[in-house]
Amino acid sequence: MRTVRAVVTGAAGFVGSQVAEAMARAGHEVVAVDALERSASPAAARANWSTLAGRGEITRTACDLATGDLEPLAEADVVVHLAGRPGVRSSWGAGRADTERDNVTATRRLLAACEAATERPRVVVASSSSVYGSAGVRPHTERDPLRPASPYAASKAEVERLTAQAAGRGLPAVVLRFFSVYGPRQRPDMAFHRFIEAGLRGRPLPVLGDGGQSRAFTHVSDVVAATLAAATTDLPYGTVLNIGHPEHVPVREAIAVLAGLLGVRPRVRHHAAVAGDAARTWADSGEAARLLGWSAGVDLAAGLADQLAWHRAGRTRPAPARAGQPA
Ligand SMILES: NC(=O)c1ccc[n+]([C@@H]2O[C@H](COP(=O)([O-])OP(=O)(O)OC[C@H]3O[C@@H](n4cnc5c(N)ncnc54)[C@H](O)[C@@H]3O)[C@@H](O)[C@H]2O)c1
Repeated sequence: MRTVRAVVTGAAGFVGSQVAEAMARAGHEVVAVDALERSASPAAARANWSTLAGRGEITRTACDLATGDLEPLAEADVVVHLAGRPGVRSSWGAGRADTERDNVTATRRLLAACEAATERPRVVVASSSSVYGSAGVRPHTERDPLRPASPYAASKAEVERLTAQAAGRGLPAVVLRFFSVYGPRQRPDMAFHRFIEAGLRGRPLPVLGDGGQSRAFTHVSDVVAATLAAATTDLPYGTVLNIGHPEHVPVREAIAVLAGLLGVRPRVRHHAAVAGDAARTWADSGEAARLLGWSAGVDLAAGLADQLAWHRAGRTRPAPARAGQPA
């Protein structure tokens, strides 16, 4: 594989930090970009950011994509755009403006900078299964209509529209629709992270809704592999690909698996369901298989064991150094 100069935005994030590391491991030169203060979980972002320090192949750069100078970032072979404000729940109410700013404004500015570059980079943009709304009796394909049901989903639909427009003007840009990512470094607001932390403390697991909602839980290592493949493959401009595990598992079944791993009887406390949360996400990733040779390889039990091991190790891990500074 040819060495590329890759810019990874959102590199202090759950997915972005692992994409940056994997690109460096694959021999690429990585510029890791993040505005750590824009993270909904600054402590997690600082910890992830510190894992990227001290590696010759990775340069860390602090930059707010919604306000900063993006011209230097577009001087790359590939821009992997993972920065943003994820999450359906936090996008309601006061979170709406942040969601719009960090997803839509940031992406609009980044795409404009890439279009203006002398040598236009390939651009890979993260979207979300939430753009579909809820799946029915079959998995979603990329041709299905978008039915965003929350400000977060609407912001990602807009991100996709902006990307398609830029691709139509000749930018080699593609979109990856990630489905419920889990595994080591999962964001503290996400379900498995909260379940595992509660379980390890002997507390009931906090379930939003009745637990009947099902998800195409996709391990972060599979998401990283798909992202690397998209970053290093010539795809038709404007391609959109589902990146999801083919199964959809009800949250209550995932809890049973997790309780087995924790060695406890599953005890849950139900909280109000989140408005706009899909009843079911279900991925047909046949296009990603065809165009990238990618399919999800990690099953839920193995993936949850992996995430649990990460949480357990964190209890003995020294606190990360403060790492909000540019390298
Ligand atoms: N985790 C999932 O299950 C999932 C599912 C679907 C889509 N996605 C998308 O994948 C991407 C990565 O998600 P994640 O779970 O790693 O999120 P994350 O919150 O862990 O990482 C996002 C990073 O973006 C940074 N950021 C936010 N606004 C910024 C700005 N204006 N300028 C520079 N950096 C900024 C944050 O500081 C954070 O470190 C996001 O675009 C998200 O919407 C994630």
